[in-house]
Amino acid sequence: MKNFNDMKVLLVGNGGRESALAWKIAQSPNLSHLYISPGNAGTQQFGLNLNYRDSEIEKLLEFAINNQIDLTVVGPEVPLDLGIVDLFKENGLKIFGPSKICAQIESSKSFAKQIMQKRNIPTADSKLFTNPKEAYEYVEDFSGPLVVKADGLAAGKGVFVCANKSESKNAINELMEQKIFGSSGESILIEQLLTGWEASAFVFCDGNSFSSLIAACDHKRIGEGDTGPNTGGMGAFSPPANWDEQIEQNVLENIVTPMIDEMKINYVPYVGVLFIGLMINEEGPKVIEFNCRLGDPESQVILPLMQSDILDVMLSCINGDIQKNNVQWSSESSVGVVIASGGYPKDYNVGFEIKGLDTTDNLVNIFHAGAELDHMGNTITSGGRVLTVNSVADTMSVAIKKCYENLDRIQFEDSYYRRDIGTNI
Ligand code: AMP
Ligand code: GLY
Repeated sequence: MKNFNDMKVLLVGNGGRESALAWKIAQSPNLSHLYISPGNAGTQQFGLNLNYRDSEIEKLLEFAINNQIDLTVVGPEVPLDLGIVDLFKENGLKIFGPSKICAQIESSKSFAKQIMQKRNIPTADSKLFTNPKEAYEYVEDFSGPLVVKADGLAAGKGVFVCANKSESKNAINELMEQKIFGSSGESILIEQLLTGWEASAFVFCDGNSFSSLIAACDHKRIGEGDTGPNTGGMGAFSPPANWDEQIEQNVLENIVTPMIDEMKINYVPYVGVLFIGLMINEEGPKVIEFNCRLGDPESQVILPLMQSDILDVMLSCINGDIQKNNVQWSSESSVGVVIASGGYPKDYNVGFEIKGLDTTDNLVNIFHAGAELDHMGNTITSGGRVLTVNSVADTMSVAIKKCYENLDRIQFEDSYYRRDIGTNI
């Protein structure tokens, strides 16, 4: 077998998460070449961007075969749900991520819920509906809040937290009758509203076992004080202010262990990152959702805390020896603030030059998302969430201060960011 100290790596995806992954992979002494497909203005600082979209899994396979790629790393959920891992493995290639069957923990909320119910994993009570009439009848009996969720993938937008019956009916109508997320809303879950504070936890899994855990918080709302519509995430920080050893043990014993065990026994071993979305209150942590990948923007604050070589960690997962790897995380504090295009998450304009990128301190990380290079080589905006400024320090308050000092040096027309990231959760 080839000695993995001159690895050619293909990274799939084009968000802020992939910029952070490219940055971290590029630090590995095992790397020789990094390709990112399709990538963005940030990833090309670390490797060569390719033209294949993340959903073009056959073309990605062809590239990997023709270019003797040693390891493919999958960032987003869509190619995982399309079966990229199964396809690459069938062709004898190494790839980091869960198989299509395992990716259902994210692509089918009812699949995940069924396992949680079977294995007594703490989560909200919930009921599955495939018929809108029955869903309307069900909410008729509730006067209080409920959560209505599309069963399938909806780019993080398929969840409606409803204050009352009329909002719940509206959500059912949009998902099942107007089909705003297409077939993803053909079946829906209606579930109990959980209260508490939210956190995202991550472990690297090898099918049998898993790494040490790292947790973060994600500010999902557009407005300060966590107000306004949900976004893909306006910033994140790690560790969460109230995270402790007891919560961590609880998550590992009562959530991660039974989940990994169930996948191994009744499906196929879960290899990849397991992302546990949690609601935590005095009763302990409960699962809001599972995802089959790293979070975005959470990855942009946790990867800077990872002290281990990420290629080693991923290979340990693929080779079934993650326990030996002993993945190390820094105990420092990390915060990331997203600069978005004004108007996001609704309509916004793109194509504005981003200025001041060369005036930031070397000690902060800039992870691009919706940014690309124009024909003059200028970095211009190309999406809703444009970039994240990440800072790591001994304390959260120092990390936040450093982050905002640098953020203020980056400018483009119509830019928007929240001033309260790292607080108020
Ligand atoms: P998800 O896409 O499943 O992460 O849900 C998006 C957001 O909806 C979560 O981050 C929570 O803020 C909220 N949410 C989802 N399910 C529940 C629930 N059962 N109770 C309270 N909030 C929820
Ligand atoms: N930050 C939430 C997610 O990545 O789904």
